[in-house]
Amino acid sequence: MKKSRFDRWLVAAIFLAGTASPAFAASGCDSIAGIPIRWNINYENDIQALFNARCSNCHVKSGGSPEAGLNLDPGASWDSLVNAPSHEQLGRILVVPGQPSNSVMFEKINCATPNAGRRMPRGPRTPLPLTEQALIYDWIMLGAPLGQTDFIFLSGFEARP
Ligand code: HEC
Repeated sequence: MKKSRFDRWLVAAIFLAGTASPAFAASGCDSIAGIPIRWNINYENDIQALFNARCSNCHVKSGGSPEAGLNLDPGASWDSLVNAPSHEQLGRILVVPGQPSNSVMFEKINCATPNAGRRMPRGPRTPLPLTEQALIYDWIMLGAPLGQTDFIFLSGFEARP
């Protein structure tokens, strides 16, 4: 006997429920697939310099307390981000070394509609250029070191989104 349409639908539904249930559903995320990978990244000169230029006044010192409790000042930013819990998305981590797609911080700079709050840097500032988004991605992918990246993670590089 042929399977009924309902049976087939049920099989499809069970299959989908089991596989296609993304834990996070940020949307409007930019593709950085076209940006060449950067292996040679220095925290102070590249990542902290980006925070100083793009995240200043809100997360970098301006006399007040940093937005969302996130201090991106020189000397504080790495501890604030790496393996640190998100204040907005409970149970998630801001920067998971080696897993940019699982890191709240990357989602916040990469996606028009993150899972919580607005895209960073917050408006009226414009989103980061793709090269800067890719720089953050590559730094996280390479283990998010405080210092200089090396090549030990090269073989485990995730495909770019
Ligand atoms: C104009 C002010 C402003 C600028 C500039 C800004 N932010 Fe934010 N940021 C906020 C505010 C306000 C929040 C909390 C509300 C929200 O998420 O929209 C926040 C939240 C965040 C969070 C979530 C923190 C958590 O615990 O979940 C991250 C990550 C973040 N910002 C990163 C950045 C980065 C990286 C930059 C620079 C590239 C940046 N922000 C620039 C104001 C700003």
